[in-house]
Amino acid sequence: MTTRIGVLTAGGDAPGLNAAIRAVVRTAIGVHGFEVLGFRKGWRGVMDGNVLELTPASVQGILHRGGTILGSSGADPYHEQGVERVRRTFADLGVDALVTIGGEGTMGAAAHMSSEGVPVVGIPKTIDNDLSGTDACIGFATAVQVATDAIDRLHTTAESHDRLMVVEVMGRSAGWIALSSGIAGGADTILVPEHPFDLEEVASVLRRRHLTGHSFSIVVVAEGALPAEGTMPVPDYPKDPRGAPRFGGIAYEIAPRLEELTGWETRVTVLGHVQRGGSPVAVDRIVATRFGAAATDLIAQGGFGQMVALHGDRIGEVPLPEAAKVRPVPKELVAVAELFFEERRRR
Ligand code: F6P
Repeated sequence: MTTRIGVLTAGGDAPGLNAAIRAVVRTAIGVHGFEVLGFRKGWRGVMDGNVLELTPASVQGILHRGGTILGSSGADPYHEQGVERVRRTFADLGVDALVTIGGEGTMGAAAHMSSEGVPVVGIPKTIDNDLSGTDACIGFATAVQVATDAIDRLHTTAESHDRLMVVEVMGRSAGWIALSSGIAGGADTILVPEHPFDLEEVASVLRRRHLTGHSFSIVVVAEGALPAEGTMPVPDYPKDPRGAPRFGGIAYEIAPRLEELTGWETRVTVLGHVQRGGSPVAVDRIVATRFGAAATDLIAQGGFGQMVALHGDRIGEVPLPEAAKVRPVPKELVAVAELFFEERRRR
């Protein structure tokens, strides 16, 4: 009997998902002779048995397209007592194994399903780039490019008006986008979730920069960055259905305080979901294609319960429970960024 595999995209979308779906389908059918079903809207589609058959024709022309042809959702069968429904869908549709493309939440759900005996393999995707055990996640490179382009544009207008620009980028638990786009765009201070910030200190770094002849500054802040205890009130974020904070808007809290502390006119830009939209850059298309092919090969070998990963320049794998942990930015990258923050450089 022909092996039939399923594929889903879950959690927040990211540029490069379609490239991964295409690679799964082409490898599954072309190399292994499998059949492929696409589950719509992430785990919701598995629980509801909502599928479409995927063929080489149905994945034609999608390599460069953003979003996901399968749709996505944050549904988690484990939280919804849906494990039985997943099993039933597998039995009803004759699905032998599942490729789950997603971030921390998706890998956590996949780890749970795997511990319940569901044959599953993961592919790392999140613009936040914060999955453990892999050096790359689909979507990150594109998000960094979008944020870097924005910072470049803010530079020219900041310079014209002698302004302080606060740019907020995504990054719930880790500051990968902030740090990477901040380094690439020449930010003067970068605030990340891993290191609570003190605005007095930030202001003194910026003042020092202005004393040395600069008339404008760029501050990049990750949405999940938080103030050091006792320095300013912690914003009261709304919660998502699982009780996790829905970030967004820390730049608006920071900007008036920095304006007061420095005396410089300050403006805010919150990049938001623009970082997740549009066409993936080449690096994301390539890594997504490699991951899609490797995940399908892993299924053919019976290597369930793992997520494919990039280790240096090689494709490897990591057990799902390990992958579903946050990977903070490394100290070395923070140190490189700090070389360009005026006051710290002189200490
Ligand atoms: O995890 C990726 C991410 O882009 C986060 O950086 C951000 O907080 C979140 O998704 C936003 O998700 P939503 O689409 O639910 O607003």
